[in-house]
Amino acid sequence: MKQKVCIIGLGYVGLPLACLASKVHDVIGLDIDGKKVDLINQKMSPVSEKHTESLLQSSTLIASTDFTKINDANIIVVCVPTPIDDKQLPDLKPLIGATTSVASHMKKGQILIIESTIHPGTCEEIVIPLVESITHLKHDHDFHVVHCPERIDPGNMKWTIQNIPRVIGSKNPHASQAAHDFYTSFIDANFIILNSLKAAEATKIMENTFRDINIAFINEMAMSFDVLGIDIIEVIKGASTKPFAFMPHFPGPGVGGHCIPVDPYYLIEKAKTNGFSHRFLSLAREINNSMPDYVFKIIQNELNNINLPLKGTRIGILGYAYKKNIGDARETPAHRLIHLLHEQGSTVHIYDPFVPQESTHLSLASILNDSDLVVFVTDHDEFTQMDYTLLKNNKTKVVIDPRNVLDQEKIISLGLKHRGVGRGH
Ligand SMILES: NC(=O)c1ccc[n+]([C@@H]2O[C@H](COP(=O)([O-])OP(=O)(O)OC[C@H]3O[C@@H](n4cnc5c(N)ncnc54)[C@H](O)[C@@H]3O)[C@@H](O)[C@H]2O)c1
Repeated sequence: MKQKVCIIGLGYVGLPLACLASKVHDVIGLDIDGKKVDLINQKMSPVSEKHTESLLQSSTLIASTDFTKINDANIIVVCVPTPIDDKQLPDLKPLIGATTSVASHMKKGQILIIESTIHPGTCEEIVIPLVESITHLKHDHDFHVVHCPERIDPGNMKWTIQNIPRVIGSKNPHASQAAHDFYTSFIDANFIILNSLKAAEATKIMENTFRDINIAFINEMAMSFDVLGIDIIEVIKGASTKPFAFMPHFPGPGVGGHCIPVDPYYLIEKAKTNGFSHRFLSLAREINNSMPDYVFKIIQNELNNINLPLKGTRIGILGYAYKKNIGDARETPAHRLIHLLHEQGSTVHIYDPFVPQESTHLSLASILNDSDLVVFVTDHDEFTQMDYTLLKNNKTKVVIDPRNVLDQEKIISLGLKHRGVGRGH
């Protein structure tokens, strides 16, 4: 059945969802950012992500800042940010703001779906009481709240919003079924219904925490193997031959983005306020947060080896985004690394083809020509598929490769120093 839908928050999550849903339903995308709304209505994506850009081109989505449109909707989906503050505590202001705006225009019979990542208990302890207090409607009788956490992986063209399986949770099986029918009317993936809101909320946090912990584990192994003279890439190759119970993860300069370095703090804080201390999760966060400092120490050592000081030496940062082939720089480890270099008086150059606003250089060739040492922070295709002779023909003497994605042998054969993370140097 064709539904009237409002999708709140038109970013990495809400915009592709709104574009896709508008192929089947009457959709209005709502955002507080008028500039984003104008861009979307001109079919220009405010998020730099290929799949979203192409979905927007072919969609009939209408974007607006007028929240009175909520009154006409059957289904309202909230996709606003859930960041942490500078004390690493959950910042629910955008979610509370969006829920307040929505509730001010809600009427009987609507389903409110929260897609934002939230800690277990948020729907029951914050969203539902807020809606009830503003609308004077009764949850589970006059309206329903459903949680369906998003799993998109920006830049991943194989697993997109169109085929990633999802989970749904609510207090009412009919509401969950209605949400299920809504999503599967335009998404060709398995949506399973869990028996509670909390289970759905915890599912998302657990899967992202799982990833954070595994990355922290491999980062710790990498730092250990650097001391022990063992090449972690060889070890991962070896361990990956085990056909069960091993899942390869790779070291890097740190964890970025809006999810993996953020979501564990939501659970850590929630458990803490209920008397449980997540020691393991906190340690993983600490290790991953320390990786830019580790890369900084590598830079310092390599410069020492060629008698260059940090002060005044030209360091090229290749890649500012937190992951390959996208322009998202939220929580990027490049930020901390650049800060440490600036503190020591290095001359920092930056080139990221997806983040021109942070770039000091416009091309790979120009930054290589201006840098004594380069750090490939992000594994954009432009870097991993580069013509290696570019390195030879320029000024660079040392290549730091924290993700171990460049061709080490080729770089060494050109007479340059290559230094990865965990390669046993
Ligand atoms: N980006 C990802 O890869 C990803 C993946 C899975 C889940 N998530 C989760 O999805 C949620 C949204 O993340 P995102 O990356 O799309 O964020 P985003 O910052 O890209 O987009 C959020 C949008 O919400 C708007 N907004 C903020 N406050 C608002 C309000 N009160 N009313 C209306 N609009 C408002 C912002 O203007 C922005 O356009 C977060 O909880 C995030 O953790 C993100």
